[in-house]
Amino acid sequence: MSILIKGGTVVNAENTARADVYCEEGKIVQIGENLDVPSEAEIIDAGGQYVMPGGIDPHTHMQLPFMGTVASEDFYTGTAAGLAGGTTCIIDFVIPAPQQNLMDAFHQWSDWAEKAVSDYSFHVAVTWWDESVHKDMGTLVSDHGFNSFKHFMAYKNAIMATDETMVNSFSRALELGAIPTVHAENGELVFQLQRKMKEMGITGPEGHPMSRPPEVEGEAANRAIRIAQALDVPVYLVHVSTKEALETITRARSEGQRVFGEVLAGHLLIDDSVYLDPDWDRAAAHVMSPPFRPKEHQEALWRGLQSGNLQTTATDHCCFCADQKAAGRDDFSIIPNGTAGVENRMEVLWHTGVSTGRLTMNEFVKVTSTNAAQIFNIHPRKGSVSVGADADLVVWDPQGTKTISAKTHHQNIDFNIFEGMEVKGIPSHTLSNGKLVYKSGELMVERGAGNYVKRPPFASYYDAVNKRREQKKPTAVKR
Ligand code: URP
Ligand code: ZN
Ligand code: ZN
Repeated sequence: MSILIKGGTVVNAENTARADVYCEEGKIVQIGENLDVPSEAEIIDAGGQYVMPGGIDPHTHMQLPFMGTVASEDFYTGTAAGLAGGTTCIIDFVIPAPQQNLMDAFHQWSDWAEKAVSDYSFHVAVTWWDESVHKDMGTLVSDHGFNSFKHFMAYKNAIMATDETMVNSFSRALELGAIPTVHAENGELVFQLQRKMKEMGITGPEGHPMSRPPEVEGEAANRAIRIAQALDVPVYLVHVSTKEALETITRARSEGQRVFGEVLAGHLLIDDSVYLDPDWDRAAAHVMSPPFRPKEHQEALWRGLQSGNLQTTATDHCCFCADQKAAGRDDFSIIPNGTAGVENRMEVLWHTGVSTGRLTMNEFVKVTSTNAAQIFNIHPRKGSVSVGADADLVVWDPQGTKTISAKTHHQNIDFNIFEGMEVKGIPSHTLSNGKLVYKSGELMVERGAGNYVKRPPFASYYDAVNKRREQKKPTAVKR
């Protein structure tokens, strides 16, 4: 199959240029004007539109077994919804239960993901520690294309990683050329504050943000960053939602530490007033961790994105419908944590970022795809419109409009946190591996067409760190 995208303006992270894009066999093979292409090539008219790398959402949880239930969105429906919103690659999470073998969990998630319609990759969570975890981390990097490991500092008595586990895992990641990532919330504080709220008679969703105040995130972010600093390993913080966490990232980066931060579209746009909604179901639908924050944090997060101290945007797409959220009707602490967004991330960010002048189009490309591709080592195969790259592309109509609604979205969830938002700037066409999979509201996806994307380790950077450490080896004082 070959496709010529004609008449558009190509927008990459580095530049913007008028050019046609010709794709064949899943790859971009020519970019320029007056291209010489076979007469049978399908033509997409991109006149007046932008041709950009398809979005990469580096943080999703399709069909995650979590908090006594399973996320309602699976790899088929979730990746299809992503394509409808211009996102052509997700990085999901393999999350072994405590004591579960990492390889077993990896095979389990791989089976689930076979039905994906777009490309996907995985981070693996390290939720516990022993020699088998040490060994399996090595096998995952050397044989299965992993270069990132996740650590949940929250969810005590479930998947929370202790400091001991984190130190062991971060050290192992350094040996392997992989990057540790963290969900930064102090799980012990959350646990105790939840108990305290309930003792005070607070059982509704408003108890959720009260038991996870910003300091809970600030403390954990700082601890993770300092642990990484002590071990000389880079670190990536997922879903940064507070000024406190951003400050610690900014400080570390200004001191030369390799620290990366991700922000969710939801945390940029939605504030904590949602938890005061008198309608329990609506309030519970917003229960996710970290919670939505008071407005001043949103402004700080935008500045973090604009200044480059936060590099990526994600959704933490983790869907639970009203009947699932209802499990916590009498106790907010057991409402399954998660909200959706994989379909809406690009359009809400364009509308509130590019249309407002907060971000240039090139910065939009950076924070929706290129930076994630670079941090997780799949650039320029992904996150770039360049010859040889995967033909994962979005044709973006800056004049197109839509009103976001759960009634019309493709996500398998009965609620949309952006409900009613009118956005200007939407995808008109999405290509996945050179195939047209979405056109003006219509999905044309094939179950199982998505590929698992292997991500190589960061050999050169880590070699340099290891060499530096070797040279600076501490020596005992001779007495
Ligand atoms: O509330 C959330 N974020 N649910 C998914 C698991 C996680 O913490 O990322
Ligand atoms: Zn998380
Ligand atoms: Zn998550």
